[in-house]
Amino acid sequence: MITGKPYEAKQFNLSGLNGISDQTLEMHFKLYEGYVTGTNTLTDKIREFLKDGKVDQEEVPAYSELTRRLGFEFNGMVLHEYYFGNMKKGGTVDPEKTSPFIKAAQTSFGSYDIWKADFVSIGKMRGVGWAICLQDPTSGGLSNHWITLHETGSVAGFVPVLVMDVWEHAFLLDYKPAERPKYIEAFFSNIDWNAVERRLQNIERDSASATR
Ligand SMILES: [Fe+2]
Repeated sequence: MITGKPYEAKQFNLSGLNGISDQTLEMHFKLYEGYVTGTNTLTDKIREFLKDGKVDQEEVPAYSELTRRLGFEFNGMVLHEYYFGNMKKGGTVDPEKTSPFIKAAQTSFGSYDIWKADFVSIGKMRGVGWAICLQDPTSGGLSNHWITLHETGSVAGFVPVLVMDVWEHAFLLDYKPAERPKYIEAFFSNIDWNAVERRLQNIERDSASATR
């Protein structure tokens, strides 16, 4: 679990995004910092139980509950880092035509447009969670997923490539609850596709960049 050091909240300079206000981002950074704190706190508490080298019988209920909560806090921290990390001021709605992401989407979905229709439709699904494009590091293939809360629905070993928070806190200061599609449109206009493509593995980076 544990690197030995507490996690520190990362800083993201996202001021001036299109359609996602600074006020929303400030509030969202605070929520993210809460997950960093939660991860560190739970980790410390679990370590306390393990100090004597075993989990005593009377400790099992508390130990189990903390361990169950760890997945929520940990994924809450990590997914927010992916989410903030794949946006930037001056982002673009779609990647360049020759980009490795477009190629990967074509291979897996038939076309980028079909990939996008799937991703956006997942983002509009009712419920609390995330839309995430994951890559299978073995085949390089992409697949889109609905993640409930922060931790349910991911595929083990797959790598997050594009992460979109669709919890209401991500947009409620800027849009009404029923206006999630407008927020998704705004999110797409801020995507840092270079950051997305740096996450891709097992692709022909060189030939793609050569055609740029
Ligand atoms: Fe969030």
